[in-house]
Formats: sequence, structure tokens, C-alpha cells
Amino acid sequence: MNPSPSSSSAQVHKGLEGITVSETRLSDVDGARCQLIYRGYSIDELVGKASYEEVSYLLLCGHLPTRQELQEWNAELASHRALEPEVLQAMSSLPLANNPMAYLRTVISLMGLRDPAAEQLDPPILRQQAIHLIAKTPTLIATFERLRRKRPMLGPRPTLSHAANFLYMLHGDDPSPSQTSALDAYFVLLAEHGFNASTFAARTTVATQSDLYSGIVAAIATLKGPLHGAANTKAMEMLMEIGAVEQVEPYVQKTLSDHKRFMGFGHRVYKGEDPRAKHLKRVAQELAGLNRAEARWFEISERLQEAVWKAKKLSINVDFYSASLLYYLGVPVDLFTPMFACARMAGWSAHILEQLADNRLIRPLALYVGPRDSTFVPLDQRPATPTT
Ligand code: ACO
Repeated sequence: MNPSPSSSSAQVHKGLEGITVSETRLSDVDGARCQLIYRGYSIDELVGKASYEEVSYLLLCGHLPTRQELQEWNAELASHRALEPEVLQAMSSLPLANNPMAYLRTVISLMGLRDPAAEQLDPPILRQQAIHLIAKTPTLIATFERLRRKRPMLGPRPTLSHAANFLYMLHGDDPSPSQTSALDAYFVLLAEHGFNASTFAARTTVATQSDLYSGIVAAIATLKGPLHGAANTKAMEMLMEIGAVEQVEPYVQKTLSDHKRFMGFGHRVYKGEDPRAKHLKRVAQELAGLNRAEARWFEISERLQEAVWKAKKLSINVDFYSASLLYYLGVPVDLFTPMFACARMAGWSAHILEQLADNRLIRPLALYVGPRDSTFVPLDQRPATPTT
């Protein structure tokens, strides 16, 4: 039986590379110019000036908030940080030793199961669900860390910002202003990024008129892979494997001869350096300066960036300096990808709202290249071993 191509003359765009499937008002990922814009504002303008709270408002509500709107938004986010006792109880009964992204995916799914309004798709209800998830995800991650380390539980502090409260819940003491602004910059830079794989998964899910929680669960499941969100954890593991600046060159040569990938390098859309990378590098460098005993992680990163560029002309992406940045903030390496999810919760939710506001089922085609005209053989007449 010879595979026969379909009669269609359709061209296959593997991985949907270069295909525009929708319009969006949320962000412009300009691969040729290496620029990223959130609703008209360059990330170069936003980072360090607008907080994650302001940026999440911008993405979900369409404009930068006034002082009054921001006060109300902050208060609303802060008031939804705590996890319900039933969710906390369920969290402590789940396996804690496996992939934290699988844990996050499961708990968000449980939150959807518990929400009586989960199946409703009205914009005000969707926005409310989005606020809940943005507010609760940092609490969920910090609580997971406390549960698995058998540390005492800590409730969120409503007087702290989104970033400061996460660091407080993770470490149990007040973060410094530089730690808070570093994490805030990270959250801002990772809040939104067009039709990346996880956002596309979220939009595809809700385009069937499923629900917001299902869309977010699909996004988390998609972000989990090392070619997407898990590259930040893999990048840190790579830095640890290198271990010292003088080991960078041998590592690069070995990786090239083994035909392996450098994690945190390369991008499907950006033709040069990811526009988020220089900001993350600056923040990681500032944190390294405050943590001289651990400065080698930044030094190894910088040397590796140069060596990979020299050897393969590959640029860094968002995940590369996210690794040392999060490490300097004391985030456990396997929680780096959940931190990405925490930041992206705003972008995913805004995309779900945008998709449902002008919905069309997402249903691409595939070019059939399997056999045709096969003759059916009844079970009792088939050979004992397969013929192909
Ligand atoms: N290390 C080594 N070589 C690479 C890398 C890398 N990180 N990225 C791309 N290449 C090479 C490939 O080997 C290939 O070379 P070849 O043509 O000689 O075979 C060429 O560049 C093109 O690679 P593709 O895989 O076709 O590029 P694609 O656009 O599909 O890949 C991706 C993009 C998946 C991000 C890729 O660069 C990669 O695997 N990077 C490492 C993982 C990573 O950092 N992912 C995070 C991306 S950002 C994000 O999702 C948040």
C-alpha cells in the first residue's frame, strides 16, 4: 500500500510557521524589528515605570488605569489572593514530588470545578474569573512550595504589591525594594506575547465555547514543554551543569558536537534578539551585584551568550536571563515555569476575552498523506502478525 497524497494541492505550513490566524489588539510581536508592544505601548516604555498590576489592567481593560482605577484594581486583586480552605485542603492531599506545572494545572482545574459560574461566558464574569486567577496563582505557587518543604502556611498580605506579596509568601519575610522591583519587571515583561503556543492553545480551547478555566488549563499544559515555558528551568540547569566561567567554551563545543540545543536561545518569530532579553539581563545583573557570592551565574550567562553567538549566531530569548534573575530571587529552579505562568495569566485571560468577543471555531486542515483504497479484511482472516 503506497501512501498517496490527497488530491488537494494545499501547501502544508508545519508548526503554522509564518501563518497569521487572527487579529489581536493585545500585543504586537514584531519579529523583524525585534519589538514588543502591549496595546500600543512598547515594553521599553512600560518596564520599570508601570507595575504588573497596571499592565494587567491595560491588557484586560484596554487602557492604562487612572489613579482611582488602579487603586480599585489593586484592592480587588489583593482581596482575591487567599485560597479557599477547600482548595488548600485538596492541595495538601495531592502528590507534591512531581512536576510543579502538573500540580498547577491540576489545582487551576479544581478551581474551575468549584466555581459555580465557570460555564458562563459573559465578559464581566470572565473578567472576574481572570482577576481571581491572576490574584491566586502566586499564592498557589508559594503554598505549594511551603507544603512540599513542610513549612508553616502563610496567608497573603493585602498591603503588599503583587510581586512583593509573592516573595513574602515564598520566603516568609519582607523582600527588599530591589527584589520587589526585579520580580515586578519580570512579571511585566512576561505578561503577554501574541499567539505563542500556550496562548494559541487557550484561544483554541475557548473558541469551542468551552470555559475560561479550561482555556487556562490548556495554556498551562502547553507552557509546560521545554521548547516553550520550561526553557527557563532548563536554562538554569544548563548554567549549573557548566558551573564555572572557564567551562563555558568546552560546554559550547560539546553541545555543538552532540547536536543538542542551548536552552534560552533561538526564537520562532524574532529574527534577532528577543526585545525582553536586554531588560531581563539588566535586572539579573543588578541582582548579581547585590549577591556577590552567587555572581557566577550571571558571569556564566554573559560568557555563554557571547560564545553561542560567536559559534552559531543564535540570539538569546526571554528564558535565558529569566533563569539567573529568578534564581537570585530565591525561587526554586523547578518553580521557574510556574512563575512564567503567573506572569502570563494576564495575557492568557485577555486573549480568552478577546477570542470570545468575536469568536470563530479554530479548525485548521491537515493534508492526508496516508494510504487510500485499502480493502477491509475481517478479523478472523487477518494474519497473526501485522503485514506492515
Ligand atoms: N540551540 C541550538 N540550535 C538551535 C537552537 C538552540 N536553542 N534554536 C534553533 N537552533 C537551530 C536548529 O538546530 C536549526 O538548525 P539547522 O537548520 O542547522 O538544523 C535552526 O536553528 C532552526 O531551528 P528550528 O527548531 O527550526 O527553529 P524553530 O523556529 O522551530 O525553533 C525554538 C524555535 C523551538 C524556540 C528553538 O529555537 C529552540 O528549541 N530553542 C531552545 C528552547 C527555548 O529556549 N525555548 C524557549 C523559546 S521562547 C518561549 O517559548 C517562551
